Amino acid sequence: MALDLHDYVASYENFPEPGVLFRDISPLMEDGKAYHQATDEIVKYAKEKKVDLIVGPEARGFIVGCPVAYDLGIGFVPARKKGKLPGETVEASYGLEYGKSSLYLHADAVKPGQRVLITDDLLATGGTIEATIKLVEQLGGIVVGTAFIIEIEALKGREKIKDYDILSLLKY
Ligand code: PRP
Ligand code: HPA
Repeated sequence: MALDLHDYVASYENFPEPGVLFRDISPLMEDGKAYHQATDEIVKYAKEKKVDLIVGPEARGFIVGCPVAYDLGIGFVPARKKGKLPGETVEASYGLEYGKSSLYLHADAVKPGQRVLITDDLLATGGTIEATIKLVEQLGGIVVGTAFIIEIEALKGREKIKDYDILSLLKY
C-alpha cells in the first residue's frame, strides 16, 4: 500500500531564521520505502515527459534527481553554487526566501535540444528553479518539466514559472 509521504516531512519553526517554518525531507530520505515511493512518482513523470537529462540545484536537488536519473539510465547534471565547478561555466543569480545566491552549470553540460527535467526537494519562492531554468535554456536545453517533493503554496513559486509544467508530490 502507498505511504502518505506527509508523514515523512519534519517541520521546524524559526529555522534558519525567525519567521521561517522549515519543511525538512530528512525523514523521507531516511526511510527506504518512502524515498523509493517518492522517486518512483518522479520517474513516472519523467517517462511521460520523455526526458533525456536531469538537472538538479545544489544541494537537495541532487538527492531528488540522482536516483531518478539512475532509474531511467540517463545523465544527471548538478547546478552548483559559486566556486565549485572547475570548467567554463554559465551563471544565474537569484533571491531566496532567506538570502541571495548564484548557480552555475558547466557550459557544455546540456546539449542543445535535450529534454530536461529539473528536480529539487522544495519549491518556495521559486528563485532557485527560475535560475536553474535560465541556465538550462542558456545552453539550448528544453525544460519539459520541474519536479519537487514539497511545494510551499503561500510563497507562490509556481507563479514565477507559470510557463512550465510542475509536479509537486506534497503541498503545504
Ligand atoms: C533550498 C531548497 C530549494 C530552495 C527553495 O535550498 O532546497 O533549492 O531553497 O527555495 P526557493 O524556491 O525560494 O528558491 P538552499 O538554497 O537552502 O540550498 P541547500 O539545498 O544547499 O541547503
Ligand atoms: N524547507 C527547506 N528548504 C527551504 C524551505 C523550507 O521550508 N524554504 C526555502 N527553502
